This record gives sequence, C-alpha cells and structure tokens, in this order.
Amino acid sequence: MKNILEIKNLSFKYSEAAPVILDSINMEIAEGSITAIAGLSGCGKSTLAFCMCGAIPKVISGIVSGNIMYKGEDINTKSLPTLAQKIGIVFQDVDNQLFLPTVDAEIAFAPENLCLSYEEIEKIVQEVAAALGIENLKHKNPSLLSGGEKQLVAIASVLSLNPDVIILDEVLSELDKENKTLIINVIKGLQTSGKTIILIDHSIKNLMIADTILLMKAGRLEDRIEVDEDYELLYNKLSDFFLC
Ligand SMILES: Nc1ncnc2c1ncn2[C@@H]1O[C@H](COP(=O)(O)OP(=O)(O)O)[C@@H](O)[C@H]1O
Ligand SMILES: [Mg+2]
Repeated sequence: MKNILEIKNLSFKYSEAAPVILDSINMEIAEGSITAIAGLSGCGKSTLAFCMCGAIPKVISGIVSGNIMYKGEDINTKSLPTLAQKIGIVFQDVDNQLFLPTVDAEIAFAPENLCLSYEEIEKIVQEVAAALGIENLKHKNPSLLSGGEKQLVAIASVLSLNPDVIILDEVLSELDKENKTLIINVIKGLQTSGKTIILIDHSIKNLMIADTILLMKAGRLEDRIEVDEDYELLYNKLSDFFLC
C-alpha cells in the first residue's frame, strides 16, 4: 500500500528552554488505513497530531526539525487552508473545536472560508450531515449535545472540506459503550469510503480496530505493530506496553 503521510526525523519542543517532546520520529501512514497512535498520557500524541495537521508550527510555535510529507510533498510548503482540505483533525478537547450556535453553522464554517456559493455550501452541509446521520441535529446548539453527538458534529465539521486524512485525537475516550460503537462504525465507514484515519487512543480494545498500531513512549516511536497477528499475543503485547 502507498504511504499518504511520511514523517521524517521529526523533533519538537515548545520553546528553546523546554524539554524535547517529540524525539526523532519516523513514521509512515499507509493510504486508506486506520493507523492508531497509542502511548501513555503525556508521551506526545497530541503534539504529534498538531504537527501532522500543520497547526505546529503555523499556529502553535515551537522548535521543529524534520519533515512531514503528504503524498511526497512537505506540508510546510502548503498554507493552513490548503492543508485543511487534505488533512483534517478532531482535537482532543472537542468543546474547543465547536464554537458556533448551530450544528449546520459548524459544518458550513470551513467551506464558507473557501468562497463557495450559498448553494454549494448548503449541498456540502446536507451531504455531510446525511453521511453521518445527524440531519436531525442540524438546528441544535452543539454545546447542548451529548458526548457522542458532539464527536459526530466535530467529525462533520472536518469532513466538510473532504480531506483524505482524518486525525481523531481521543474521540472515543469519554463515550459510553453505545456511542463508542456508533463512532467506531463511523470510523470504519470513513475508511470504506477511502479515507485514511489516524486514531489516537490508549484503550487496547479501541486500538484493535486499527490496521497498524504505532506505540509512542516519551516522545519516541517505540514499536510498529500490524494488527494481523494473533489477537491474544497482540493483547498481551499491548498490556505489557501500557503497564511498563
Ligand atoms: N502548549 C504547550 N506548551 C508547553 N508544553 C506543552 C504544551 N502542550 C503540551 N505540552 C507538554 O507536552 C507533553 C506532551 O503532551 P501531549 O502532546 O498533550 O501528550 P499526549 O497527547 O500523549 O497526552 C506534556 O509534557 C505536556 O505537558
Ligand atoms: Mg493528547
């Protein structure tokens, strides 16, 4: 399978005097895969996600070295609006992502910045809401929705730009069993429709939906596991990793 993203020797710290957060990371993300990035809290997963979507260094400053290539091109050469049409992200804190008074305004927000016509934007909002089964939420206030509904709206706001790669930072973490199943099915559906998913998570059960699991420890890539090996062996390997 072709790689859609390649991270080459990426290192990062938030300031000159701050500790190294990402340490010489090399990673490949296969096109059309669900690739999980896992590791203990504080190991640098969200920071890596900020780098992969260009938020670091374009919005959040710091000291970066190395490269992130999207389809062979350095993402640094692209503007943030261009990049958002290729690599979308649902941030770990979904409440920070949703800030408009209605769900349809959230979905329309990014396409509105592309100077599309009213009709084109309406069409995108309809299609994305239908794809995620949230047409009934369109006029609701996102801040009043359940955790699962908020995640769906955040995913919808990202899908409105039709990116090839979607980074989901801990979207399953605070959901009950029913909503978790719902979002997992959405993730699998996105993969079936050709998207590449990067799923940041630390629950072993959630990680099992991935094709590949990348394990991070203290800012470094520790291991790469293809999820085609024996389930029990894999479960034990992941348990050992999270325990030590
Ligand atoms: N804006 C920031 N400024 C300085 N340090 C930060 C900032 N954001 C995160 N960190 C630090 O970077 C480290 C990695 O954090 P993070 O990427 O959020 O890890 P994870 O997502 O794996 O929990 C932590 O030590 C955290 O305190
Ligand atoms: Mg995080």
